[in-house]
Amino acid sequence: MKRKHDQDMSRESHPSGAPWRNFYGRLKGKALRKSQQTWLDEDLGRLSLGAVGWDVNPERKEVDLASLFGNRPIWLEIGFGGGEHMVHQAMRNPDVGLIGCEPYINGVAMLLGKIREAGCDNIRIHPGDVRDLFDVLPENSISRAFLLYPDPWPKARHHRRRFVTPEHLEPLARVLRPGGIFRVATDIPDYVRQTLEQVPRHGFEWLAERPKDWRRPWDDWLPTRYEKKALREGRVPHYLTFRSVKGC
Ligand SMILES: C[S@@+](CC[C@H](N)C(=O)[O-])C[C@H]1O[C@@H](n2cnc3c(N)ncnc32)[C@H](O)[C@@H]1O
Repeated sequence: MKRKHDQDMSRESHPSGAPWRNFYGRLKGKALRKSQQTWLDEDLGRLSLGAVGWDVNPERKEVDLASLFGNRPIWLEIGFGGGEHMVHQAMRNPDVGLIGCEPYINGVAMLLGKIREAGCDNIRIHPGDVRDLFDVLPENSISRAFLLYPDPWPKARHHRRRFVTPEHLEPLARVLRPGGIFRVATDIPDYVRQTLEQVPRHGFEWLAERPKDWRRPWDDWLPTRYEKKALREGRVPHYLTFRSVKGC
């Protein structure tokens, strides 16, 4: 009996107490260039958000955002890929603190190279899964969140892996402040469907009033690598803007 209980528990949590969170994406791609390894070795520690993972923060102590960003508004980019949009926003908005989250280490290395080149000092990085980050972000701490070209998971049986599911949207709604903005860009029509169905269930309103509101990019937009690929391959970007209406 005990053994069965242990087996059942082991499916829900790790011996450290960490929940099992299956991650289906890539953590590493082709071999890093020497310069990329140098950026990781020299810059990532300094630009990391601090103790986020269960291994280093088993008590799930909240990140001290004030010590990192003072009283600046904080924006979060989930799955920043190569980091071009992160750096673009950081340069445009020096009075904002940006947190970027990306488990793909080659992408993290690319972002570090861009930060060096741009010389911006308002970015902090969590080189891991956003679900671990959500655990340790204070409630109402984020003013704006970006989800740009999330993994599409096209097969119907994989739709539950998509970001726009309760596992991600519930903690996102918790950390976003009332009135906070959530931007989603995608080129996959079925992802638009699921986003418009799911996101409003978690205390968000869709701000589009007319078709141009989702057909035209945001005024401060910079096309990401995935958007460029989508356009080359003839797919149509959709730009969806939501506002958190919790407490209203
Ligand atoms: C299709 S790529 C888009 C990258 C970039 N936003 C762009 O537009 O070029 C999706 C990214 O989301 C990241 N991702 C997937 N699951 C994630 C998770 N749980 N937490 C954070 N990032 C995640 C992937 O590693 C990948 O880099």
